[in-house]
Amino acid sequence: MQLAPPSFALLTNHLTSRNKNTHALITCVLLSPRRVPVLILHLLCTLIGSLCVTGSIIGSRSLEHFTTMHRLPHLANRSFIAGALAQSSRCSKTRGPVEWRGLQRYSTAEATVVTRETAVKMREKTLTMETLSPQVKAVEYAVRGPIVMKAGDIERGLLQGQKHPFTEVIKANIGDAHAMGQKPITFLRQVVALCSFPELLESPSFPEDAKLRASRILQGCGGQSMGSYSASQGVECIRQDIAAYIEQRDKGVPSDWDNIYLTTGASDGIVSILKMLVSGQGLSRSGVMIPIPQYPLYSAAIAELDAVQINYYLDEDHCWALDTNELHRAYLAAKEHCNPRVICIINPGNPTGQVQSKKCIEEVLHFAFEENLFVMADEVYQDNVYSPDCEFHSFKKVLYEMGPEYFNTVELASFHSTSKGYSGECGFRGGYMEVVNLDPEVKAQLVKLLSVRLCPPVSGQAAMDVVVNPPLPHEPSYALFHEEKSAVLGALAEKAQMTERILDAVPGIQCNPVQGAMYAYPRILIPPQAVDEAKSLGMPPDMLYCLRLLEETGICIVPGSGFGQREGTYHFRMTILPSMEKLKVLLEKLRDFHIKFLKKYASLEELER
Ligand SMILES: Cc1ncc(COP(=O)(O)O)c(C=O)c1O
Repeated sequence: MQLAPPSFALLTNHLTSRNKNTHALITCVLLSPRRVPVLILHLLCTLIGSLCVTGSIIGSRSLEHFTTMHRLPHLANRSFIAGALAQSSRCSKTRGPVEWRGLQRYSTAEATVVTRETAVKMREKTLTMETLSPQVKAVEYAVRGPIVMKAGDIERGLLQGQKHPFTEVIKANIGDAHAMGQKPITFLRQVVALCSFPELLESPSFPEDAKLRASRILQGCGGQSMGSYSASQGVECIRQDIAAYIEQRDKGVPSDWDNIYLTTGASDGIVSILKMLVSGQGLSRSGVMIPIPQYPLYSAAIAELDAVQINYYLDEDHCWALDTNELHRAYLAAKEHCNPRVICIINPGNPTGQVQSKKCIEEVLHFAFEENLFVMADEVYQDNVYSPDCEFHSFKKVLYEMGPEYFNTVELASFHSTSKGYSGECGFRGGYMEVVNLDPEVKAQLVKLLSVRLCPPVSGQAAMDVVVNPPLPHEPSYALFHEEKSAVLGALAEKAQMTERILDAVPGIQCNPVQGAMYAYPRILIPPQAVDEAKSLGMPPDMLYCLRLLEETGICIVPGSGFGQREGTYHFRMTILPSMEKLKVLLEKLRDFHIKFLKKYASLEELER
């Protein structure tokens, strides 16, 4: 039965009415001798209406039941409510029954909404903060934490004309080079462009060496298209190129391409290996040794996998060196309550920017050999070494040089990425891992695990191929490639030095040399009054420091508490990625802020005494 909107309006009003007089009035209107169906309807109304009026559960609940039973909310919502609201607003200046009717119709609309809300509320949410996985709740990732969110809010506010004591937010919170203005390496983009759009292989605008690389990658793709899934381990010829790169990097130490796995950035490889290693309950629960300060992917993955985090502290007084006494201390303490199974090392370091010496790496490998630990070597910054007296040594090469007893036994996974180095291609999510001495059956399990996510992005794999297989000196793209690569790494080296120099000269800031990677991690003095203030606000003192810095200067950096630090010490991490000009402004503003901060909390004079 199709109800004309006005009749239906009256019906629904009638149903919700609790007023007997009103009820009578509606009844009169409905009693039209020309409309028999309306009469029937009226009788129905009267019956239900009377129930509503006399019953204790009346009004919207009865309506709700009635309308739900007869699928009326749907009808009402679609056709009637809109018309009724329009009519209601048209009549809004008139007094009397019409106005009343309009109002009642509005109530009906509300009732319909209530109906829906109540229907939704009746089914409780399955996923709430109470039922959410506790492992997920435990995950924290400071690099994109509250300070960064606040920076985003401020940036949006600035765009909308809000006033701040600065005109721009300078972000130095994340190692995302392109976001900070770094230009892509032409050759890498050419190869990826050719792979994505092979018609360009005919174009004279692309150099022959880029076309050769792209054609070879496409040959390795299903249907010769980058749009197909690759094998779970990655495109074969790319794995071969990676193995060749490693052999060359490690001065002839053999690398088997069967041990190479392409990954979705290094993060994916790191989490996959951790997944393989985590098991047990109570005393047998896997313990994962990580440096403190650390890159928070590690603590986050450990929390998510419900493993035990074992902190070993890097030696800040010795340029963040890795001390084996500290490794033993951490290991022995952890053995009391878990089963330490893996040691993670980040070299060059994030957030600490140190480059570990060969001797130090030997000691770590010896320790891992003795204690039967799996070694995870995060070497994503292997191309980012700036100090002339430092050199990158891969864990694999050092292991080889320690002799067959070590090289044939210590299980090692090392990680690399397109995100860092001179390419800075974070968005491609390219990466690889090389595993050595993995039990063959475990290796099969690793392939199984990786195959569940099908494959890493093939575009990222292509980008990874260029990182490990750049133009050679005799090839047409070499000159430009070399110029671009040197410009990026040269600028980073200059910025690393400038950052250390300016920060280390500020009273109350101590900054170790930025030997590699992309970050400075200076120690900052936070006066006791500021510590108390932070406590009263329920935040770590270095969070308060970074928050005030952001609010006063627009500089966005990350508090040390997000990376870990020795109790009672405070730090922040900043990247050296902004352009030279911006970085200078940032460092000067930071210096001025820090002095003001110390003065505010009456600690500057103490320092100068
Ligand atoms: C030490 C370290 N490892 C791993 C990663 C993850 O890099 P990717 O982008 O390759 O996942 C980062 C990123 O900043 C990092 O600093």
